Amino acid sequence: MKLEVFKTANELYNYVADLVVGRIKSKPDLVLGLAAGATPGPLYKKMAEIHRHRGPSFSKIKTFNLDEYVGIDKRHNASFYRFTKEFLFEKTDISPNYSHSLNGQASDFAIECRDYEDQIQKAGGIDLQILGIGQNGHIGFNEPGSPKSSRTRVIELSKETRSKIPKELFTNQNIPEKGVTVGVGTILEAKEIILIAVGEAKSLAIENCFSGVESATWPASYLQSHHNVHIFCNLQAAKGLKNLPVPR
Ligand code: GLP
Repeated sequence: MKLEVFKTANELYNYVADLVVGRIKSKPDLVLGLAAGATPGPLYKKMAEIHRHRGPSFSKIKTFNLDEYVGIDKRHNASFYRFTKEFLFEKTDISPNYSHSLNGQASDFAIECRDYEDQIQKAGGIDLQILGIGQNGHIGFNEPGSPKSSRTRVIELSKETRSKIPKELFTNQNIPEKGVTVGVGTILEAKEIILIAVGEAKSLAIENCFSGVESATWPASYLQSHHNVHIFCNLQAAKGLKNLPVPR
């Protein structure tokens, strides 16, 4: 596990955006796993800026969204598909034919989840998975208690996760009770993983997930056994960790 700490979030995002675009340069048909949420937003914005100003083309990459709320339409304000569309797909030349997402309104989630796993396999597996982290240590919607071997599935959202969902996004609808997410086992099969954490609210999760112990109570802690994982934090998010590297 490689941990990098940055003095500011802006420096972190510049660094990670260059890294991800560099991966696309070296492998134009990169298979990229995309988290949604406040954390990856600035990364996608910077990736789109780099793409616009100096290339490369993203037209051959394949993307797989990490998760979605169950019961909401793709066009809904809170949809993770809509988020990646607005931040990345519409701002770059990513092909709609190559951007995959889980359907929160699937009529049969067993089929939806199995098909998604098949599509990932058919694409050759995820080359690079981008992750944020929940304050309870979840990755995607893999809530505490998720097994390390879990695959893409529907999951009950915890009280804590539901309390963090911005209520203004759900004016005409209740806050979702379930999510559909790529599993921990599926995430761990990615060839490379980048997890980003910014802000003090994430510091407890970072401390519990990356201090050496692996447990289902803090699902991101499973990442510690992955052979190629980079954790990028700003100083506030990393404040609970011992033996911090010199901040960039
Ligand atoms: C959501 C998503 C996760 C995301 C997490 C943190 O629950 N399912 O994929 O990483 O929240 O979100 P944020 O980056 O907005 O803090």
